[in-house]
Amino acid sequence: MIAVTGASGQLGRLVVEALLKSKTETRIAALVRDPSKVADFGEKGVDVRKADYDAPETLAAALEGVERLLLISSSEVGQRTRQHKAAIDAAKAAGVKLIAYTSILNADDSPLALADEHRETEAYLEESGVPYVLLRHGWYTENYMGAIPAAVENGAVYGCAGDGRFSFATRKDYAEADAAVLLKEGQAGKVYELAGARGYTLSELAAEISAHANKTIPYVNIPEAAYSDALVKAGIPEPFAAILANSETGASGGALFTKSHDLSDLIGRSSTTLAESVAVAMQD
Ligand SMILES: NC(=O)c1ccc[n+]([C@@H]2O[C@H](COP(=O)([O-])OP(=O)(O)OC[C@H]3O[C@@H](n4cnc5c(N)ncnc54)[C@H](OP(=O)(O)O)[C@@H]3O)[C@@H](O)[C@H]2O)c1
Repeated sequence: MIAVTGASGQLGRLVVEALLKSKTETRIAALVRDPSKVADFGEKGVDVRKADYDAPETLAAALEGVERLLLISSSEVGQRTRQHKAAIDAAKAAGVKLIAYTSILNADDSPLALADEHRETEAYLEESGVPYVLLRHGWYTENYMGAIPAAVENGAVYGCAGDGRFSFATRKDYAEADAAVLLKEGQAGKVYELAGARGYTLSELAAEISAHANKTIPYVNIPEAAYSDALVKAGIPEPFAAILANSETGASGGALFTKSHDLSDLIGRSSTTLAESVAVAMQD
């Protein structure tokens, strides 16, 4: 049996869908806090199991009979190391044979504040003795798609990433790569740097938006603190705004760029281009 945590989330849903599409004969389990969110999976033969990182007893029951586990990093930044440790402990106790963990791109030396919890989780996996594979994900293209209407309205894309390149790929691209690894043999010990096939600057993002908006929307680089303040004014909670601004500063130095083609090799096609994603986001 293959189990996916965070299966009610945006990435997790797409992984379960990719596994279903593969027509694998292996049973699939969706591990979620709230089974009602994935009732549709139950109708498709997926074993829906309640699993809350903060309630270890649910993890023990949810992992019964699981051979391969995709541990999708939790969305609760600041709580994640503890939560991931609970999941790894439960997987070890349940005799899981392989844990695939969705870490962050370039985790070994990433300067991003977000990378700390990923490094701590990677270290704990090593300590646990459970065979594991690292699926280090780059930035989701979607991180910027929600901000397009505001960019059009303000007449500018603001950020603090300078000329840094982001190897964007979509959640669907990452999900297909994650599913491919779960379905392959011999994955223990592997480290995948998953990201889009080419890197884009935020100026290139602004140019794509401009082309669809029929007006020039430049990229305007501002200091990290000013960008964080702008995100707060746009409604993003302060601690998360600071993390996003810190990530862009990291990206300015190349932290979210890679030359790795691991993702396209795994999915057997090119990753989705920025132009394709912007076109979808701005259709109508
Ligand atoms: N690389 C990037 O650009 C990027 C961007 C955003 C996030 N991420 C990371 O990638 C992960 C997946 O992304 P996503 O877009 O799918 O995020 P998402 O839509 O927010 O999904 C997060 C998932 O984690 C689950 N979760 C949160 N706390 C939990 C807990 N205590 N116990 C069990 N499950 C819990 C959520 O369950 P509920 O449905 O019950 O809330 C949800 O299924 C995120 O969690 C985050 O770590 C990466």
